[in-house]
Amino acid sequence: MSIVVAIDGPAGSGKSSVSRAAARALGFAYLDTGAAYRALAWSGLDRGIPLADPAAAAAAFEGFDYSIGTDPDDTTVRVGAVDVTEAIREPRVTEVVSLVARVPEVRARLVELFRGIIATTTRPGIIVEGRDITTVVAPDAAVRILLTADEQVRMGRRSAELSGVSAETTARQLASRDAQDSRVVDFMNAADGVTTVDSTDLDFDQTVAAVVALVRDTTRVE
Ligand code: DC
Repeated sequence: MSIVVAIDGPAGSGKSSVSRAAARALGFAYLDTGAAYRALAWSGLDRGIPLADPAAAAAAFEGFDYSIGTDPDDTTVRVGAVDVTEAIREPRVTEVVSLVARVPEVRARLVELFRGIIATTTRPGIIVEGRDITTVVAPDAAVRILLTADEQVRMGRRSAELSGVSAETTARQLASRDAQDSRVVDFMNAADGVTTVDSTDLDFDQTVAAVVALVRDTTRVE
């Protein structure tokens, strides 16, 4: 059995880049669950499915042939034979992904898919990040972390990542996505037994070091 590290947090908390770097440092696999929600949204848009209709969004799962790399150095996302790694980050996908993520049938199917990936990992451990990993996908994970940062800091980091988009637009989009997403799962408050890592006053390397130290202290991996 591989060691499972579950990391949740809001948009712009640095979850993805921190989780990937921590997985690399530990020799663990890495699973970005948000990428699966994004790939399903991309696939729905590609097939002209009206994602605002929950029944249609749930049905989008039929014919959704998805794969994701769990090597922290190769997280290629494919829908069928199409490499969508870049396309799923486009604003048109970000704008509709919450419509897909709010549908219970979609969540249930994706949770099963994630558990399958976790169960078959061949590395000594896997870092899984998203919104409901500590609570739903892997509540029994050896290490459970909520990665947070002050809203202003998160917005600043996200707008530094997105060139050509005004800081105001980024702030508005981030706040509205978090508001929509947190109606479905609570990723702003740590559940029982979950350790909060607040990166407000930490730089990237310090945040990665804090996560790696928590994993090493809890599990005794090198
Ligand atoms: O982390 P991200 O921005 O790539 O996530 C994309 C969307 O998927 C986000 O709007 C919330 C949703 N999501 C979710 O509901 N549960 C997860 N475990 C991961 C992501």
